[in-house]
Amino acid sequence: MCSIIAYLGLSPAAPIIVKGLKRMEYRGYDSVGVATFSNNQILVRKGVGKVLEVNKIAKLDELSGTVGIGHTRWATHGGVTETNAHPHPSSAGEIAIVHNGIIQNHEELKKELQQKGYMFKSQTDSEVISNLLQYHYDKVKEIKKAVLATVSELKGDYAFAAVFEDGTLAAARLHEPLIIGIGKDGYFISSDVLGFVEHTDEVIYLDNKEFVIINNSGIKVFDFDAKPVQHKITKVSKEFADAYKGDYAHFTLKEISEQPATIPNASNSTRLELDLATDFVKHAKTLYITGSGTSYNAALIAKFLFSKYAKIKIEPIISSEVQFSPNMFEQQSILIALSQSGESADVLEAVKIAKDAGAKIISIVNMMTSSLVHLSSISIGLNCGPEIGVAATKSFTSQLTVLYKIVDKICGNCIGLDLNKVSESITKILSDHSGIQEIARKLKDISDIYVLGRGIHYPIASEASLKLKELTYIHAEGLPGGELKHGPLALMDSNTYVIMINPNDSTYSDTLTSAQEIKARGAKIIGISDKPSDVYDYWVEIPQVDESVYPIIEIVPVQLLAYYAALEKDTDPDYPRNLAKSVTVK
Ligand code: AGP
Repeated sequence: MCSIIAYLGLSPAAPIIVKGLKRMEYRGYDSVGVATFSNNQILVRKGVGKVLEVNKIAKLDELSGTVGIGHTRWATHGGVTETNAHPHPSSAGEIAIVHNGIIQNHEELKKELQQKGYMFKSQTDSEVISNLLQYHYDKVKEIKKAVLATVSELKGDYAFAAVFEDGTLAAARLHEPLIIGIGKDGYFISSDVLGFVEHTDEVIYLDNKEFVIINNSGIKVFDFDAKPVQHKITKVSKEFADAYKGDYAHFTLKEISEQPATIPNASNSTRLELDLATDFVKHAKTLYITGSGTSYNAALIAKFLFSKYAKIKIEPIISSEVQFSPNMFEQQSILIALSQSGESADVLEAVKIAKDAGAKIISIVNMMTSSLVHLSSISIGLNCGPEIGVAATKSFTSQLTVLYKIVDKICGNCIGLDLNKVSESITKILSDHSGIQEIARKLKDISDIYVLGRGIHYPIASEASLKLKELTYIHAEGLPGGELKHGPLALMDSNTYVIMINPNDSTYSDTLTSAQEIKARGAKIIGISDKPSDVYDYWVEIPQVDESVYPIIEIVPVQLLAYYAALEKDTDPDYPRNLAKSVTVK
């Protein structure tokens, strides 16, 4: 979603800010802007579109000054317009701000400020921050006090950065991430380490309810009670530097291709936590698992694994639905929260509800510095490196791997999980893309595709359809095989494509029967299986593996298919329209 970057140092700020915004593009956005402090005034340029497009027209990177703030906006309050793009200057133009999150009480604040003579140009909730800061600054003439008074009035979840007319930067956070980078010749503030990682790997993670003031004499951090806070400087993992495409055409392809390496790596940096989590799960009174989107599909897989191998009942629930199931959690409940980013607002909300009811939280998460980790009793790392493509790929197979590891531990190694074999099988699938590319060409002009699976392969069918939707914008639907005759068969005709997730296990013959029924209605069948069949118009071969681990490997060909179909349709596989990598608003 929205991204914040700010810089104060010896170098021209605008080019650094524009580059940082470019690097955070994966988070999703629709408009972009920069403000700098130069010659005792604040200069603002912004526009609608991608960073490079807006930069070409508005010359964002030519703004003068060595202090500045920048933002990419993903519209929530107010349409996608230049006026609504950030930064937002105060009506006097002495302060400009960029903001992530939502200010819940913006309407009341706006009215009060308007009555006091402050003017508003945009329809955003964010603009109240600049005018509120200005109002308090006009009164107290001190930045620290103005920030404190402002945060005491704001309601909602937010991170903002502000540049003041004297060239000072200030930034504050409440439930939205903000990270400070300490460079050799300057300071950075960003919502994402990627915003400045090429300049420094030394960072301070601001805690919730803290703010920072940075000027030429240094950096000071305070909490919302005005007390100074001392933070240790941490070094971010060098892996962030890997967040470049290298020789790959897209991040999505890079991340799909990394899976033979990322799967054996899952949870390796958090082995102790894995043991602890296993113990927690064994002793849970009631056990739940939650996530959104792809992470929820992984939660559905967990249901099958836990019941089949560990003989434990676990209830999956979509994170955004938790709020509608009051009294679900109790003391000694365990909630496993799955999230790549650890910042999905729906997941964080679900976790807070569970915690309030006395449940303990185990998170399985990729971003170990995220808010979810702070809210959890135990966090297990996916350890799969930055995932930039908006469509989750390698994080999904790493989530499955961690879940398999937990279940295998509980059942005394009854799965006999051999991750090297899993990894070899995926390498085989990835060794030749030509067959999948050929099928992708056929999908170019179709409007509907169905993905069918039974048992544990149904959540894979749902995940496959999510990938196809996101990357190709083709209507895609995952179906449980047995439901075909209860309705969806009516949709099958010669314009339809159906992907059958059909490995050679106990679901095989029933799924093959479904394929025949569908084929009889004229639809084209793409079979994903280790066993060929005449019923398939296209057979995507997967290696034969132990029955228990088919789900980890069978999703990979569909990830590739969705990627290549996106290329055929000329959509951008890394940044699908209307979507953001981490959905930090509800
Ligand atoms: C996956 O391809 C999607 N982009 C999306 O559904 C994602 O999985 C969901 O928003 C959850 O994100 P998280 O794992 O970072 O919490």
